[in-house]
Amino acid sequence: MRFSERVAIVTGGASGIGLAVTTRFAMEGAAVVIAGRDQERGLAAAAGLAAAGATGSVRFVRTDVSDAQAVEDLVAGTVDTFGRLDVMVNNAGVEVDERPDGPATEADWDLLFDVNTKGTWFGCRAALPHLLDTRGVIVNNASVAALIGSPGHVAYSASKAAVVNLTKTLALTYAEQGVRINAICPGPILTEMTKAAWESDGGDEGRRRNLALCPARRAADPAEVAGLVLYLASPEAAFITGAAIPIDGGKSAGLMTIDRYRW
Ligand SMILES: NC(=O)c1ccc[n+]([C@@H]2O[C@H](COP(=O)([O-])OP(=O)(O)OC[C@H]3O[C@@H](n4cnc5c(N)ncnc54)[C@H](O)[C@@H]3O)[C@@H](O)[C@H]2O)c1
Repeated sequence: MRFSERVAIVTGGASGIGLAVTTRFAMEGAAVVIAGRDQERGLAAAAGLAAAGATGSVRFVRTDVSDAQAVEDLVAGTVDTFGRLDVMVNNAGVEVDERPDGPATEADWDLLFDVNTKGTWFGCRAALPHLLDTRGVIVNNASVAALIGSPGHVAYSASKAAVVNLTKTLALTYAEQGVRINAICPGPILTEMTKAAWESDGGDEGRRRNLALCPARRAADPAEVAGLVLYLASPEAAFITGAAIPIDGGKSAGLMTIDRYRW
């Protein structure tokens, strides 16, 4: 119950990594607000957690994170309802199919930067005045693609690299006032986003190719990522700020080539 009496917002919190994070917060006593675009899925996630015996209350607020005013309203409404905000998890994100023979269009670049980059910034900007009151925490979901080059993901990688640097810059700005701001950089995680990417890359062959680039040779469960997010949000991580932490099965450690150098 590390988060009883605490209030968290999780954007994109009704599916994949976001749902795993929402679940862990609710099971550890926090009041959680799921912010997302899909009302049906958001309400179902909130009801499902209540039925599963979550100790913290879970609400859904329909929000498009690329809409600055909607994000301001989300945060203001959360503070009106619960009286405080302790944790802002900027997790919502999108990926587009970028192929060497069909690079992302300008509309794709706009979408990726509007949601992944500006959406994260809008969440930080809206939350910070309240996090100053609670000495709270921001966790931004970037990607391993923010740390290393990822052929075929030019626009997505750029949008996530910007998330890492906005995280570091904000962390420097607010460290002395006790607000901690970190990014996580996941490698392959078993979510709808990953399954769709494998599918458009040829199904099983796409999966095989993708996992060949991951030293651990597997995709992680979203719950593994949630564990890191909750740790970063907890007092145990009190001296960690401005970090971009890979959770990627070793993918960012170096080039994964061939097996013959294994002892
Ligand atoms: N799955 C992976 O392997 C992986 C790896 C690295 C980073 N990530 C990042 O993790 C985050 C979560 O992705 P996921 O893998 O759980 O996939 P997902 O598709 O299940 O989750 C993305 C969520 O963001 C929401 N969303 C998208 N656009 C939005 C908008 N404009 N406003 C509000 N919500 C919006 C979606 O509805 C969805 O709930 C994303 O930022 C993604 O880029 C995922």
